Amino acid sequence: PTVLVLNGPNLNLLGRREPDLYGTATLAEIEARCHAVADRHGLRVDFRQSNHEGVLVDAVQEGADGIVINPAAYGHTSVALRDALAAVDVPTVEVHLTNIHAREAFRHTSHTAAVSDAVICGAGAHGYELALLHLAELIGGEGR
Ligand code: DQA
Repeated sequence: PTVLVLNGPNLNLLGRREPDLYGTATLAEIEARCHAVADRHGLRVDFRQSNHEGVLVDAVQEGADGIVINPAAYGHTSVALRDALAAVDVPTVEVHLTNIHAREAFRHTSHTAAVSDAVICGAGAHGYELALLHLAELIGGEGR
C-alpha cells in the first residue's frame, strides 16, 4: 500500500521557520523518518510538499491507499482541500506539528480535520510517524 504524505504551505521552510514553535527538523529529515517507519510496516511513502492549494487538491485526487496530511494554514481556510479529501474517501490522518488548539483562535478550526479519520497535533515531527502507524493499522501492510 502507498501512503501519500502531503505537506502544505511554508512547510518547505521547516528547520529555519520559527524553530521555537516548529522545531529544528527539516522537511527532508521528516521525510526520512517517514520512510523508515513505512518500511518497517510494509507501506510505501509518496512524500510531497506544495505552497499551492490547487496542487494539493490535485495530489489528493490522484488517489492513494492512505493519506497523511499536514495542510498547514490551508487546513484553516480551504474548503476545496476538504472537499477533495471527502471525495476520494481514502483513510486520512491529519497532522500538525504544533498544538493548534493552544494557539491563536483562527487555528482552532480545521476544515480538513472534519473529514479525517484521526488528527494528531502537538507531537512535533513524531506526529508523522504516529500517523503512519495508525494508517498501517487501518490499511494493513506487510510485516506488522
Ligand atoms: C501547522 C499549524 C498551522 O496553523 C500553520 O499554519 C502551519 C503549520 C503545524 O504543523 O503546526 O503552517 O500546520
